[in-house]
Amino acid sequence: MSKVKVGVIGAGSISNVHLTAYAANPDVELVAVCDLNAERAGNKAEQYGAAKTYTDYRELLADPEIEAVSVCTWNNTHADISIAALEAGKHVLCEKPLCKTVAEAERVREAVRRTGKLLQIGYVRRFGQNVQTLRKFIDAGELGEIYYAKASCLRRLGNPGGWFADSERSGGGPLIDLGVHVIDLCWYMMGKPKVKSVSGNTYRKLSNRAHIENLSFYKAADYNAELNDVEDLANALIRFENGASLFVDVSFTLHAKKDELSVKIYGENGGAEIEPELHIITEKHQTILNVTPQIDQPTFNFQAGFDAEIAHFVQCCQGKAEVLSPVEDGVEMLKILCGIYESAAEGKEIHFA
Ligand SMILES: NC(=O)c1ccc[n+]([C@@H]2O[C@H](COP(=O)([O-])OP(=O)(O)OC[C@H]3O[C@@H](n4cnc5c(N)ncnc54)[C@H](O)[C@@H]3O)[C@@H](O)[C@H]2O)c1
Repeated sequence: MSKVKVGVIGAGSISNVHLTAYAANPDVELVAVCDLNAERAGNKAEQYGAAKTYTDYRELLADPEIEAVSVCTWNNTHADISIAALEAGKHVLCEKPLCKTVAEAERVREAVRRTGKLLQIGYVRRFGQNVQTLRKFIDAGELGEIYYAKASCLRRLGNPGGWFADSERSGGGPLIDLGVHVIDLCWYMMGKPKVKSVSGNTYRKLSNRAHIENLSFYKAADYNAELNDVEDLANALIRFENGASLFVDVSFTLHAKKDELSVKIYGENGGAEIEPELHIITEKHQTILNVTPQIDQPTFNFQAGFDAEIAHFVQCCQGKAEVLSPVEDGVEMLKILCGIYESAAEGKEIHFA
């Protein structure tokens, strides 16, 4: 089978893991890199062996050689670039979040249906070895019905600055940036129930604490600490139509003793901790068992997760697999995220019809 010819749009921080995964994939020919910043696009193209560079994504999309693209740009551009790519006949791997609003998500869904092209959302944590291992236990019914989940992604210092801290371009702070990952993970494990209501709180109490020294953190390619109009903490209780519930809290900065990543799900027959490390909790012969699956990556491994996500995308492009994180999952997620922001702004629970 011939190689899938790929272009990467957006050559900032996260593009490195996309480009590394594509460059290492024998079924891929990396053709082009595009960024508003020509030097950045050129450097990445050279580093990863792509022949062409663009500064206008429309020109990349007009290139008939390219069959598939990764969209690694600011959140406010995801919908327009993805739709234009689909309309140009390309398959799309769009970084999370799918976009900023429910209306945008519905527009992308409509474009997927109209064009018949593939769109995979970059829910990379679904591709973690710990998650895919647990999935088999869940699919075999070993946890039973999952009725509660709890997720925290708390950074004590980690506002990436630049566009991440500009709500116009990002859509918000840690909720849309980090919350999207851990909410999706729980929701995916719970069997994607429909959201019934959300109640959330957001806080802007600590700003970005750019004055703190001696602690490093993930930064946007154009890091700038001057602009920051996003929340630094969000929490929410999400209710689903099947009666299940999910409690989540996420921060860019918080007076916490250390960073915390914890994702836990609880079912009728058993529970599981996905992060910080995979454990399965069950009972047998009147005894509670904490089971530790023996796997290479009991916690999320960044590059391995992206390698698996991109290998799956390439297989989908070749018609060998069905998209694991389709556009519909982005529409439901945007309902949840935007509902939480609305709930926090209005100080009340938001109900969905
Ligand atoms: N899956 C993950 O774990 C993960 C982690 C980090 C970031 N991300 C996502 O990846 C995306 C990019 O984040 P990042 O950290 O790389 O940001 P970044 O600021 O480092 O890079 C973004 C790049 O996009 C370019 N860009 C913006 N608009 C463009 C346009 N219209 N055309 C061409 N280039 C354009 C910018 O010039 C910049 O180089 C975001 O959506 C973010 O949420 C995902």
